[in-house]
Amino acid sequence: MYVCLCHGFTDGDVRKALDGGCRSVAAVYRHLADRPQCGKCVPDVRCMVNEHRAGNAAGAGHAMPCAAMAQAESTA
Ligand code: FES
Repeated sequence: MYVCLCHGFTDGDVRKALDGGCRSVAAVYRHLADRPQCGKCVPDVRCMVNEHRAGNAAGAGHAMPCAAMAQAESTA
């Protein structure tokens, strides 16, 4: 699913960036797109960063689904 329409990156791209070592919202944008344009995707990217941190802390990968992403997927 597309996360950022301005730069055309997906949730898979964000997860790859996180798995590749990005540890913050800013790091994800630097890796994928330099910086946000309109900023509408920032809450979703922040959610995925927090989800990734929580998963790493629990040692369970992506065990906690991002609520916004899960809702979007359930309505698609
Ligand atoms: S949707 Fe990502 S910067 Fe606009």
